[in-house]
Amino acid sequence: MAEQRKKMTLPMLFKKVADGKPITWLTCYDYPTAYLQEQAGVDMILVGDSLGMTMLGFDSTLPVPMDDMIRHTAAVRRGAPTAWVIGDLPYMSYQPSVESAIRNAGRFMAETGCDSIKIEGGAEMADRIYGITKAGIPAMGHLGLTPQSVSSLGGFKLQGKGAVQAKKIIDDAKALEEAGAFCILLELVPDRVCQLITERANNCIIMSLGSGPHAHGQLLIYHDAFALYPKFKPRMAKVFADAGKVIREGLESYVKEVSDKTFPQPENWFGMTDEEYNELKKML
Ligand code: KIV
Repeated sequence: MAEQRKKMTLPMLFKKVADGKPITWLTCYDYPTAYLQEQAGVDMILVGDSLGMTMLGFDSTLPVPMDDMIRHTAAVRRGAPTAWVIGDLPYMSYQPSVESAIRNAGRFMAETGCDSIKIEGGAEMADRIYGITKAGIPAMGHLGLTPQSVSSLGGFKLQGKGAVQAKKIIDDAKALEEAGAFCILLELVPDRVCQLITERANNCIIMSLGSGPHAHGQLLIYHDAFALYPKFKPRMAKVFADAGKVIREGLESYVKEVSDKTFPQPENWFGMTDEEYNELKKML
């Protein structure tokens, strides 16, 4: 049972890789969902700044501040005490300088109890990965479609389709690994590029989001995998259960039963003894 499982550690994650067992990873933003993911035995949880889109209804991840990330990551930690929890450094919390990166990574660790942090970007961010890792914080990278750069990437689309761009992603992955990244997420790159990076990784876990089966494990955005995001359905995301439909049908039943007075029933309320009731009436 997930409830009894040991706290996930870096050596345990690397052992899974060595044993050829794929790592399971989902995004999560709140306590009850974290509790369910923990029960299901999910290995890693990303509290992504995608919460700006999935939870707050923005069109991008850019408006999410550090304080929101801290609040949601702390809630996830409470719901999932043994999963490996990753806090996602939000837009402009690490880009300005190595120092800003270390400070905000430290805030994540101290204020939320998460296990590691993630930043987006390639070789130009290697000094941030190095600095954070040297400060004793496990750091991971994110290449391919990096949502914080959606404007310069030309939208939410496949990256590294051509050989030149693919070579840059492969070089970036090596730079991040050499800087100390324990893990790199490849989002929306061709499967063959993901395979090349995975084969070349020495001491770094390579994870795929829409980048094929050859990585050491898979990530999905929780709201995509459970049909909870109304704005669009990415092709890469399989819907494992239509929770959106189940909840919508439940809501329709609620509206109907309150409207036609079939809810509440006696088992849904609490009574009062005749004695106390009569006493109360006398007092009025
Ligand atoms: O914020 C997030 O959830 C992410 C994923 C898109 C990988 O960074």
